[in-house]
Amino acid sequence: MADFRGGEAVWIERLDNLRNVIRQEVIRRQLSRHVTAGMTVLDVGCGQGTQAIELARAGCVVTGVEPSKELRLRCERSASSSGCAIELIDGAVDQLDEIMVGRHFDVVCAHGVLMYMPSMTGAITALSRRVALRGLLSVTFRNGHALAFRPAMRRDWAGALAAMEAKEYVNELGVAARSDRLENVETALVESGFEIESWYGVRVFNDAIAADMQVPEGEDLAAMLEAEDAAGRRDPYRWLASQLHVVARR
Ligand SMILES: C[S@@+](CC[C@H](N)C(=O)[O-])C[C@H]1O[C@@H](n2cnc3c(N)ncnc32)[C@H](O)[C@@H]1O
Repeated sequence: MADFRGGEAVWIERLDNLRNVIRQEVIRRQLSRHVTAGMTVLDVGCGQGTQAIELARAGCVVTGVEPSKELRLRCERSASSSGCAIELIDGAVDQLDEIMVGRHFDVVCAHGVLMYMPSMTGAITALSRRVALRGLLSVTFRNGHALAFRPAMRRDWAGALAAMEAKEYVNELGVAARSDRLENVETALVESGFEIESWYGVRVFNDAIAADMQVPEGEDLAAMLEAEDAAGRRDPYRWLASQLHVVARR
C-alpha cells in the first residue's frame, strides 16, 4: 500500500524546487476563485502548511490535520513567522470522524493526499462528512488519464508504454502511489452528495522538469506561472496535467 512516510524526507528536501513552487502557486490561484475571507477551512494532510497559511493570510479561519510530527512542526513554525494563527491537529483521513466530532467547515481541502490512500472513494466519503451544507470540497489527485505523459516527455519510451493502461505509478518521491480518473472521482463525489463546480489541471508544461531544477529569477517565473495557470483552466491542456484539482459543492 502507498505510504507517504517513505517519501517524507525527500518531500521536505524538495519543498522549494520549481516543481513544487509551480504546483503550490497554481493550486493557490485555483482555490482563490472559490474561497473568500471569513470562511472556515479544514486542510487535511496540510503537511508543511503552504496552502493552509495562504488561506489564513487571505482571511480564512484554518484548521490543519496532519499525521507527521515533523511536518506539523514545520507548519507551526511557518505559520508563526507569517503571523498567522492555524489550529493544528494530529490525525489522518480515517480518523476524521473521531477527531472532528460535530465539526463542519465551509471548505475542506486534501491536496496531494488521495494518491496515498488505499481507497479514493473511502477518503472522499470521510472528507465529505466534514463539509458544511453548501460547502466546498477541494481535492487534488494524480491524473490517471495522463500517466504516460511525463515519461514520454523525458524520452523514456518503455516507461511511457508501460504507463498507458497503468493505475499505479512510482512518484517523484520514490513512493508507489495510486492515480485516479476524473470520472471515478466525480462518481465518488456524487455518491457523497456533491457536484463538481470546477476542475483544473495542475502543472502541465513543466511536469517533465527535473527535481533539482530551481526557481528562475524574476519575470520568467511570472510568465511561466501565468502559462501554467491558463493551461490548467483549458482543454485540451488540463487533461495532460500531472494532478487534477476538483472543487465540488455539497
Ligand atoms: C505530498 S504531501 C502534501 C502536503 C500538502 N497538502 C501540500 O499540498 O503541500 C502529502 C501529505 O499527506 C499527508 N498524509 C499522508 N497520509 C495521510 C493520511 N492517511 N491522512 C492525512 N494525511 C496524510 C502527509 O503526511 C503529507 O503531509
